[in-house]
Amino acid sequence: MQNIPNEQEQRGDTSRYETCLLAADDGGIATAARLLAQGHCVAFPTETVYGLGADATDGRAVAGVYAAKGRPAFNPLIAHVANMAMAESLVGMTPQARRLAEAFWPGPLTLVLPRHGEVSDLVTAGLDTLAVRVPAHPVAQALLTAIGRPVAAPSANPSGRISPTTAAHVMDGLSGRIAAVLDGGACAVGLESTILGFDDDIPVLLRPGGLAVERIEALLDRPVTLHEGSDITAPGQLTSHYAPRGALRLNVVEPDADEVLLRFGDGPSEWSLSASGDPVEAAANLFALLRKADATAQRIAVMPIPTQSLGAAINDRLTRAAAPQG
Ligand code: TXA
Ligand code: MG
Repeated sequence: MQNIPNEQEQRGDTSRYETCLLAADDGGIATAARLLAQGHCVAFPTETVYGLGADATDGRAVAGVYAAKGRPAFNPLIAHVANMAMAESLVGMTPQARRLAEAFWPGPLTLVLPRHGEVSDLVTAGLDTLAVRVPAHPVAQALLTAIGRPVAAPSANPSGRISPTTAAHVMDGLSGRIAAVLDGGACAVGLESTILGFDDDIPVLLRPGGLAVERIEALLDRPVTLHEGSDITAPGQLTSHYAPRGALRLNVVEPDADEVLLRFGDGPSEWSLSASGDPVEAAANLFALLRKADATAQRIAVMPIPTQSLGAAINDRLTRAAAPQG
């Protein structure tokens, strides 16, 4: 713990840190909350993926997130809060948004709503809406309760690379560039949250993710519109994203000799996303297996994965991972 930066040390200078790995016990969570309150960037576990957090009310701290990730500055960030009351202090809850929040928070759902609370303009990239989420992971809950402020957090990976689902993944990509990583083990969902916005009162899917869109449609009893390029900058919408270093091919049944094949629904194997063909299990394994395959082979192939349930989000991530890197 001797490397924990103190208040005097310069913040946001991403070349300066000796990143410390904090155990997710009371002491580690308190240290992480203190570092965040002092304006440092700290990675923490959520049920979806690890987030790279910064105090959302502190513009300089949020700038540190963009710097550490090497992220294009026009991408807005999600504000993470501990509960509905904190969310309501930041955004205007419509009746539909409230029903969704009551049903699915805490959990892998992000709602984009009109903002009215105090967050840095760097979080919203100047939009008049704010993306908010209440994560379910107990360590995230404890951290957000301890700091008592909204925490802006994109996935804790260098921009464009595979999202991290363990503390070791975070260290691989960002060690030396951030103050600390709070180690809460492997993420249970394994895919980023589903992002939903509203066009008047029409629900619009901005990013498929860890909450299946069918469940949103069932709750609201209406179809969710798919977002297609409007003025809303969503994102994980950059075409090449989640990129492994090597090439990736989708819907493959017969792999080439130099490819490792990520398998789905054809029995146990070291390379199974899900031996039984369960999309929820496959989502949880996706990013870790992509990393392992990328470290093992020149090229990666993936078997076809149906688009029901979390299969839609898995195919979205794989399509972006397979896109030519610009
Ligand atoms: O599961 C998750 O959502 C993870 C964990 C850490 O919570 N976070 C995450 O953040 O995936 P990030 O920054 O990688 O993705 C946030 C997405 C971006 O693609 C961004 O464009 C979109 O949310 N977004 C944020 N604010 C928005 C807004 N006001 N309008 C439309 N899209 C927005
Ligand atoms: Mg990301």
